[in-house]
Amino acid sequence: MSVFLRLYHFIWQRKWPFIIGTIPMALAMCLNNLAPFFVKWLTQSVQDGLMEHAFQLVLIFGLILFISNILENIGYYITDKNMVGTSNDIAKAVLTHIHNLDFAYHTNKSSGKLISLMKRGDDAFFAYYDIINRQFLNLTISFAVMFLAFARLRMDYLFFVLLLIAITVFVAYFLIKFNIKRRKAFNDADDDVSGARVDNLVNFDTVKYFANEKFEQSRFAGLLKIWNQRLQAYFFTFRYFDGIVGNLINFALVGIMFLAVRDLQNGQIVLADFLLVTTFSMTLFPKMMQLLFSLRELAKKNTDISTYLDLLDEKITVQDPTAPQKIKNPQGEIVFDEVSFAYENKQTVLKDFSLKIESGEAIALVGFSGAGKTTVAKLLMRMYDPTKGKVLIDGVPINEILKSDLRKMVGVVPQDPLLFNNTVYFNIAYANQKASKEDVLEAAKAAQVDVFIKDLPNGYETVVGERGIKLSGGQRQRLAIARMLLEKPKIIIMDEATSSLDSASEQIIQQAFWNLVRDQKNPRTSIIIAHRLSTIMQADRIVVMNEGSIAEIGTHEELIEKDDGIYQRLWSLQRNGFIGDGESEEN
Ligand SMILES: Nc1ncnc2c1ncn2[C@@H]1O[C@H](COP(=O)(O)OP(=O)(O)OP(=O)(O)O)[C@@H](O)[C@H]1O
Ligand SMILES: [Mg+2]
Repeated sequence: MSVFLRLYHFIWQRKWPFIIGTIPMALAMCLNNLAPFFVKWLTQSVQDGLMEHAFQLVLIFGLILFISNILENIGYYITDKNMVGTSNDIAKAVLTHIHNLDFAYHTNKSSGKLISLMKRGDDAFFAYYDIINRQFLNLTISFAVMFLAFARLRMDYLFFVLLLIAITVFVAYFLIKFNIKRRKAFNDADDDVSGARVDNLVNFDTVKYFANEKFEQSRFAGLLKIWNQRLQAYFFTFRYFDGIVGNLINFALVGIMFLAVRDLQNGQIVLADFLLVTTFSMTLFPKMMQLLFSLRELAKKNTDISTYLDLLDEKITVQDPTAPQKIKNPQGEIVFDEVSFAYENKQTVLKDFSLKIESGEAIALVGFSGAGKTTVAKLLMRMYDPTKGKVLIDGVPINEILKSDLRKMVGVVPQDPLLFNNTVYFNIAYANQKASKEDVLEAAKAAQVDVFIKDLPNGYETVVGERGIKLSGGQRQRLAIARMLLEKPKIIIMDEATSSLDSASEQIIQQAFWNLVRDQKNPRTSIIIAHRLSTIMQADRIVVMNEGSIAEIGTHEELIEKDDGIYQRLWSLQRNGFIGDGESEEN
């Protein structure tokens, strides 16, 4: 029921095409049900020898069929607008909600499953719409006309028909429930197959690196086997349904004809009425069958749509404030006030992390892999909310600012930037849709993108492949930096942003970065996360993290003086070239 109400909530948002289209459709359906009456009237005319009248009846019948056809088409055309529009509205609402969902949701989701679920929901909507708004309307009108005709003729026909309809619907109810259960089980298997497909597409190279094609194929075959079994089990419920319900309806058809023949024999009804009853039964009992098939279809679509609409119920834990504050003229002062945090797996990642970053200050975060550096950045972007403590920007707790405002203020160059399967230009300009072409090219130049653009077949119009797969790691990083330089946010987070670059390009990009950060007129606050310590020596302060807490803090000079400090140890390891080009111990 709730699916029904929710769908009507969407359908009703475009009520006019719905109402205006339904009227001619309902009229056409009424006219379509007059056929048995014409059979009766024709028989009477022929029996009475009124042949001219019979011909007139045929002509009127033809005209009615013609008008009904036109009305029906007009009705379908107008309600189709409502149907397609509503389907788009739902798709948009689902995407918007998915955008609003937490990062935690996105780290747990399976894209393949989601896509198959959305596709099924989308497809099911059209069938569902057709059944509830058209088929049911048609059947209701048909039954109403038939019941009226039977009631006027003989009440026992009506009772017989109503009784059999009640029995059939009662039996069908349980069969449909059984059918839905099997459908749900099949959908789960279908989602798993779809998930495995997407996983194989996304991890194509990993499969190749390990030459694990055979393994993947047999894994897939295993899933298909379950898929197959569940589909067969689902199909089996149809055989049940068609066998039991079909024969109940056949029995009703034969029964009513039997009654009619008996009454004709007894002289209780005339031939014309006998024909009226048999024509109604012949045309309307198949409709009864159709009603039950529609109910069964509806049950199936109901399952598909409800899982689709359930996406809209996914809870958003990182909520926008109800009365948001605006930071008019951001200064970029950041405070982490005794922040603790754990991901869903509950292990504490940050413990009482307190740090004040002054407006315009450049802070470097260093520490072993897994120390919690990226997590600090994620909390500042409100990808998650801390389990304890507060994060403030310019004195305002960030959960009192709209997420979109916050994220416009803070720019991130992530550890492993992913790109849209679109052109290089699109990917850079994505940071600021209002930027002029000159600005985009300037940012690209500063981030050394133009150096490799020359070698690409279509220059800035080259498509970078899914997630940017056609570019090297360093090229992707340069694109991500260009995006940030174009966005020019007040607060900048560079998370290992130049780790894949050669030293020469790194130096040039660092220059562009520091030019932006140390801009005299509008200095930026920045957090630089890096393993390669040579890249952070210019930072105002260096924060050394260890297991989610601050272990040391100070300038490069201060920290290298600190005996037995983590920083000093890291520095001497890197200076002596023990660890790759400055990688941490665990990398
Ligand atoms: N989405 C997640 N769900 C659960 N645990 C996570 C998630 N992301 C990170 N972690 C865990 O949180 C801890 C801190 O991770 P974080 O990414 O902040 O480390 P890091 O200091 O940036 O490390 P690196 O230098 O390797 O990038 C790690 O133990 C990691 O396994
Ligand atoms: Mg990290």
